[in-house]
Amino acid sequence: MLIGVTREPTGETRVAATPATVRQLIGLGYDVVIERGAGALSAFADPAYAEAGAALGSGEDAWGADVVLRVNGPAPEDVQKLKDGAYLVSTLAPALNPELVEVLAARDLTVLAIDTVPRISRAQSLDVLSSMANIAGYRAVVEAAHEFGRFFTGQVTAAGKVPPAKVLVAGAGVAGLAAIGAASSLGAIVRATDPRPEVADQVKSLGGQFLPVVVDEQAQASTDGYAKATSDLYNEAAAKLYADQAADVDIVITTALIPGRPAPKLITRADVAAMKAGSVIVDMAAGMGGNVEGSVAGQKVVTENGVSILGYTDLAGRLPTQASQLYGTNLVNLLKLLTPAKDGEVVLDLDDVVQRGITVVRATGTGKGERLWPPPPVQVSAAPAAPAVSAPVSAKPKRVPLSAAARFALVLAGIAVFWLVVALAPAPIPQDFTVLTLAIVIGFYVIGKVHHALHTPLMSVTNAVSGVIVVGALVQAGLGVHPIQVLAGIAILLASINIFGGFAVTRRMLAMFSKGN
Ligand code: NAI
Repeated sequence: MLIGVTREPTGETRVAATPATVRQLIGLGYDVVIERGAGALSAFADPAYAEAGAALGSGEDAWGADVVLRVNGPAPEDVQKLKDGAYLVSTLAPALNPELVEVLAARDLTVLAIDTVPRISRAQSLDVLSSMANIAGYRAVVEAAHEFGRFFTGQVTAAGKVPPAKVLVAGAGVAGLAAIGAASSLGAIVRATDPRPEVADQVKSLGGQFLPVVVDEQAQASTDGYAKATSDLYNEAAAKLYADQAADVDIVITTALIPGRPAPKLITRADVAAMKAGSVIVDMAAGMGGNVEGSVAGQKVVTENGVSILGYTDLAGRLPTQASQLYGTNLVNLLKLLTPAKDGEVVLDLDDVVQRGITVVRATGTGKGERLWPPPPVQVSAAPAAPAVSAPVSAKPKRVPLSAAARFALVLAGIAVFWLVVALAPAPIPQDFTVLTLAIVIGFYVIGKVHHALHTPLMSVTNAVSGVIVVGALVQAGLGVHPIQVLAGIAILLASINIFGGFAVTRRMLAMFSKGN
């Protein structure tokens, strides 16, 4: 089959395939035709596509292919350029564009909306909303940093002390988490809030502080990977949190979204008025109605009190090369799923929940398509599973701490044993026993205070001790006494596990911190 990649409408900088993804598509058995100039705004020139094995053609050639790949949905007149039986793969927002779905269904086409991939782990590699929101969240921080007249990081310089910027991220989904990571890596103090309590750990792991909105009601657990509308009680408590934070922070990045609804209004005009002059708000949801009162989709607004509100809706497109590469890779992953035999032939399996989830219209061969939107809901949740109500909870038996008297008696008994050994045992046992006792006491307090997660890298130092054990055990093994030889063998085995295991784990941990080349 022939895959066509067309130019995108004015204002779009991204393209649906890059030279790298063209190579992968050809590897799946497809021929590829690229409309001339399609990748120009993403820094992918025509010769690079040709070198990757694609043919360069006119718009008609690309629209006339068997499978047409797009970033943006087609204009109604473009739909007529598609040939009967063709596949169209694009973002479409079918829930928000019922008229376009009608126009598409009037033709004998199979239309796959790549922005309706269900949020399940298996489909993550095709999820363009996530890959684009990730880029957009990062770029939102870059835009905010560009507008903001100060450092993000705190500094102590000869010219004075600079406090770190304070950033509030509202909505810790994909874009929000990317923004938290980017802002904290720039050195800002980052706070984030979200109605889904399950994201608190993710916020913390990216260096942010999670601000929960405490309300006396059941948490809004997600069942499909997206949030549910919040209650009035929640909104009231959240409004108080935003009012407090707005007066304190320098940057606000809002990403709150509930699919299929206009964006919830989180930051009021009064909150904006309470912010310091020079503060910046990036309303990532501006294109969906906005989370911030006064934001304008696609524009920068500066309020009377000197707060800049950025409502840019093309944040992912502001990193076009990266965005096209990730978008193109999402499409390659989709085509891998659709081309099980790698023979360049699309096979659509509507029993597969992912393929069903994205199929908006299916070709029927009768001159008209079959409308398959909306798909049946898919239940997924990142929330921790609720404990079964009826099943008895097998609680770990709690360790009862020893009473003061028992601890005193134990210490006395220890001292008595120590005194007996030192007083009665023949030399050199008292001396060796003293060293052993001290080693145990010091070791217990030094190692016992270290967090479990740090034991392995820290304990790699004990490899040296293990080395000494191995040498000692080798010497003892030569004595020819059977029990000693057995003990020496066990000592060598255990110490070797410690040495080699310690090195292996330390190496893996170091690799986690070293940036890839
Ligand atoms: P997501 O669904 O992963 O995250 C949205 C988050 O908002 C969820 O964690 C949800 O719990 C939270 N949320 C819902 N209601 C809330 C409330 N009342 N208060 C606080 N948080 C609330 O969505 P994703 O992919 O992160 O996208 C976020 C937003 O960014 C969307 O509005 C999307 O349209 C927009 N976006 C904007 C771009 C741009 O160029 N401006 C580019 C890409 C995405």
